[in-house]
This record gives sequence, structure tokens and C-alpha cells, in this order.
Amino acid sequence: MKRILVTGAAGYIGSVLTRQLLAKNYTVRAFDVLNFGGEALIDVYSHKNLEFIKGDIRKEADIRNAIKDVDAVVHLAAIVGDPACAAQSDVALATNWEGSKLLFDICQDTPSVKRFVFASTCSNYGKMEGHDFLNEESPLRPVSLYAELKVKFEKYILESKKRSDFIATALRFATVYGLSSRMRFDLTVNEFMREVALGRELVIFGEQFWRPYCHVADLAGACVIVLESEESKVANNVFGVGDTNENYQKKMIADEIIKIIPNAKIKYVQRNVDPRDYRVDFSKITNILGFKISWTVPMGLEEIYSIIKNGILSNPDSIKYNNI
Ligand SMILES: NC(=O)c1ccc[n+]([C@@H]2O[C@H](COP(=O)([O-])OP(=O)(O)OC[C@H]3O[C@@H](n4cnc5c(N)ncnc54)[C@H](O)[C@@H]3O)[C@@H](O)[C@H]2O)c1
Repeated sequence: MKRILVTGAAGYIGSVLTRQLLAKNYTVRAFDVLNFGGEALIDVYSHKNLEFIKGDIRKEADIRNAIKDVDAVVHLAAIVGDPACAAQSDVALATNWEGSKLLFDICQDTPSVKRFVFASTCSNYGKMEGHDFLNEESPLRPVSLYAELKVKFEKYILESKKRSDFIATALRFATVYGLSSRMRFDLTVNEFMREVALGRELVIFGEQFWRPYCHVADLAGACVIVLESEESKVANNVFGVGDTNENYQKKMIADEIIKIIPNAKIKYVQRNVDPRDYRVDFSKITNILGFKISWTVPMGLEEIYSIIKNGILSNPDSIKYNNI
């Protein structure tokens, strides 16, 4: 396996994955419509093993142009997050379902493509009943258009196998955090630390709700592991990506922030919302693929604190860091 097509390569996770693949001597065909610009790829743009294609997964000609001589696809391109999908539901449907399906169907019809790795989400679980940890066998109860479309596409790729030498894998990512060349501050860990590091009051609602978290470098690393794993382990399979010890309630993240910034101003408020609430057991990916995280939420908070404190981003409040 040599040439990997990464859709959404200029995004938060894609730009990190692109660097990891280049470092492992893969040729990366980086494909992106550049909704947030392409700055995240500037320093690797002229790399001898990077082939950038500006394109849209909603357009068949763009996909056919990008798929030539590709061995595997990591499909990250999407309208990402509940608010972004709710705000532009037509685009979300056209991208996260129709465009994704078009891409997958073309991949299956392209003999060189042997593997398809899809970035799904733990948001598929919705709200847990009781307090048990959820895993790949748990029922999916999406509570947003974003998660509904992820569930639908996951099901499609796992049930639409046409070729015996074509392997599809769905990865249910935990909520991501950490530093990337395409920074995002609409993610809990990053946003919480930005607010406090800039001396602002952090207002938290739903402090008791659980979510699993995973650093962007570890999520990207999981994609590489899946690409390199034995076929029989990943074929038509679903894996949660994260670590069972990295489930946090929002208040627990706030408590970690206070360890770094003892005078942090934090206020808890009641809001009439129905946030996702789930704890996830990630032992499957560790037991079967040997995946291990190298980051924890407290380490990620330190990382974000450091870049804000040192002024690495000239305007951390820029709207370009939000998907909404
Ligand atoms: N960030 C998270 O917490 C998280 C959690 C679970 C799953 N995921 C999934 O991981 C993937 C990557 O997320 P991210 O955080 O890097 O998001 P991101 O918004 O930073 O990146 C998505 C990229 O896809 C591109 N894109 C959007 N529509 C496109 C289209 N029609 N054609 C080509 N490119 C298009 C955008 O320009 C952007 O660069 C997504 O599929 C997302 O659903 C993310």
C-alpha cells in the first residue's frame, strides 16, 4: 500500500494525519474543498510525496480525478459537528451522506482501492441509559442530524461490500482535542482552556455529562494503525477510538484546568438542552489492534494553555477556528 487518498486533508484531523502518513513514507493524495482555507498544508505542500487536489466529494468528476492509482482511502471530509450540520442541513446531507456514498461507490468500482477507512463518531451513541459503559455492540441512538448521517453511512459501508478484496472499516472517534495546523476551538477541551487562559470566565452547562476524549495525534495514529493492520482484523469492522480511562464529565475537565490555573473563573449554569451523555469502553481497538493513546486530557490542556499563553495564535478568537 503506497498511495493514500485523504479526504478532508486540510482539516483539523486530516492535516495531522497527512503529516503522519508522509513521515511513514506514504504518498498522500490530499483532497479537500478548503472550506477553512488550505493554510494547514502550507509546510508540507511541496513535499515530494504530497499530491494536493482541490475538489468536492459531492462532484463525481472530482472524485474520479482523485481516485486514480490510489491504494486506500481515509475519508474525513464532512460538515463536522451538531451545530454546523443543523445550520446547513442541506449541505450536510449532500456531503456527509450523498457525497460520502458517491465516494464509497466509486472506490468499490476502482480495482486499485483496497481499503476504505471512515471517520465516524461516538456521537452515534447519543444518550446512555443507566451508567454502563457503551461499546461497539451498544445500540446507536443519534440525537442530531450529524450523528444520524454518520450512523447511516457507517451502516452503508459495512453492508454494501461488492468485492472480496475491498476492506471497509468504520472508526468511531471520541471527541477530539489538541493542537493541529488547522486549529479548532469549538471543541470542549480546546475551548474551555482558551477561555480560562485568556482570563475570561468559563461558563459550563451540563457539567455532569460524560464524554470520551482523544488527542488529535492519537486519532490520526489510529487511522494509520488500521491501514497497516491485518485484513482479517479490520475488514467490515467498527472500532471506537479512544481510551476507556479518558471519559470525563465536563466538571472533571474544569477541575483539571484549576490544577493548571488555580484562579480560573468557572461558573456552572442550568440550560434546557439535551446534551449527549455517554461513557465508552475502548478495549476492542486496544485488544485487537494494539492501539494505545500517548496523550491524556490533562496533557492536552497543558498544550493548549502553552500555545495561548505564548501567543502562538495571533487571534485565538478568530471565527476561522470554529466550524459553526
Ligand atoms: N473533531 C471531532 O471531535 C470528531 C469526532 C468524531 C469524528 N470526527 C470526524 O472526523 C472527520 C474530520 O473532522 P475534523 O475535526 O478534522 O473537521 P474539519 O472541519 O476540521 O475538517 C473537515 C474537512 O473536510 C473538508 N470538506 C468539507 N466538505 C467537503 C467536501 N464536500 N469535499 C471535500 N472536502 C470537504 C473541509 O474543507 C475540511 O477541511 C469528520 O468526518 C468528522 O465528522 C471528528
